[in-house]
Amino acid sequence: MDNIKWGIIGLGGIAKKFASHLKETEGGVLHAAASRSKEKANQFAKDFDALYAYDSYEALLQNKEIDIIYIATPHSHHYENTLMCLNAGFNVLCEKAFALNVDQVKAMIEKAKEKNLFLMEGMWSRFNPTILAAKTEIENGAIGNLKAVKADFCFHFDYNLESRLINKNLAGGALLDIGIYPIFLSYLFFGKPVRMHVDSEYFPNGVDKNLVMLFDYKDGEEAILNASLQYFSPCDGFLYGDKGCIRLHGRWHEATAYTKFRKSMEDPITVNFDKRALTFGYEIDEVHYCLRNGLKESRKWSWQNSIEIMEIMDDVRKYIHLDYGEIEKL
Ligand SMILES: NC(=O)c1ccc[n+]([C@@H]2O[C@H](COP(=O)([O-])OP(=O)(O)OC[C@H]3O[C@@H](n4cnc5c(N)ncnc54)[C@H](OP(=O)(O)O)[C@@H]3O)[C@@H](O)[C@H]2O)c1
Repeated sequence: MDNIKWGIIGLGGIAKKFASHLKETEGGVLHAAASRSKEKANQFAKDFDALYAYDSYEALLQNKEIDIIYIATPHSHHYENTLMCLNAGFNVLCEKAFALNVDQVKAMIEKAKEKNLFLMEGMWSRFNPTILAAKTEIENGAIGNLKAVKADFCFHFDYNLESRLINKNLAGGALLDIGIYPIFLSYLFFGKPVRMHVDSEYFPNGVDKNLVMLFDYKDGEEAILNASLQYFSPCDGFLYGDKGCIRLHGRWHEATAYTKFRKSMEDPITVNFDKRALTFGYEIDEVHYCLRNGLKESRKWSWQNSIEIMEIMDDVRKYIHLDYGEIEKL
């Protein structure tokens, strides 16, 4: 297979990051970019060497040379944009959170099955080599039995209704944007909780500002998680065993190092990884692998994984009474 040709729709902050990381990755090129603004599309194509620039997402769908479309729009639009791309016959990598609720996620997956196309949620931390190496250490008994996970994702963001992070019509709030990460870490190690305790504070428009979550699992393990758009944290992640602990260095969701502590606290060992862990490179490698091998879903971040993480988030939202109204409908 020649270079895989990428199209991107929604040319905001993460699209720029993705396009610059794609350039550093082997086997893929940015072929086309689409924005609701022609000017923005032209500038993006110039900055990241795309051959084609389109002033609507629909126009990009006419370019049948594209192998896969990366959807980088706000959460509110993932469901609609994914169905649009799949219906037009394109493979899709859609940013997290995959959609607004599990019904939307299931409908997206059914469409990918019907069209026999590749579909994956951009859960890039799943491909982070530092987190995966820490997981292997735990499986090899480095800290005894894993009993708890503690993780957060917090930063200060000014109240600004224009921003997709806050605007309710764009499915703003801490949970879908950053709360998903600590939930992901707990899910990676423990799966779905059997019980949860959740508390939240809200911005004046009703979306969640601070979120505190305590999850319990069937064998007595627990996860202590929080996300905030109000205060800063270095975002360290902790994996607690009965014989030691691993600290994923902040920001843990893109960790490039971890430190392993024994119960005695003597001689902690720090393991460092390549700075590529800070990029989308490993996620892009996985997509390329799947496309080159005819896979319709990733074995590492499967459709079932996307369903289950969204089921957890749906449950959290019930506790915090966060309802996005019309935009949640199928
Ligand atoms: N994996 C990660 O590390 C990471 C980090 C940040 C964000 N994300 C995810 O990436 C997605 C986009 O986030 P972002 O930070 O890039 O957002 P952003 O900067 O606000 O960009 C979103 C883009 O979506 C397009 N869009 C389409 N309809 C829109 C509407 N009604 N209102 C506003 N924008 C609209 C716009 O592009 P055009 O004007 O070009 O059409 C806009 O620039 C989200 O799902 C977010 O969770 C992932």
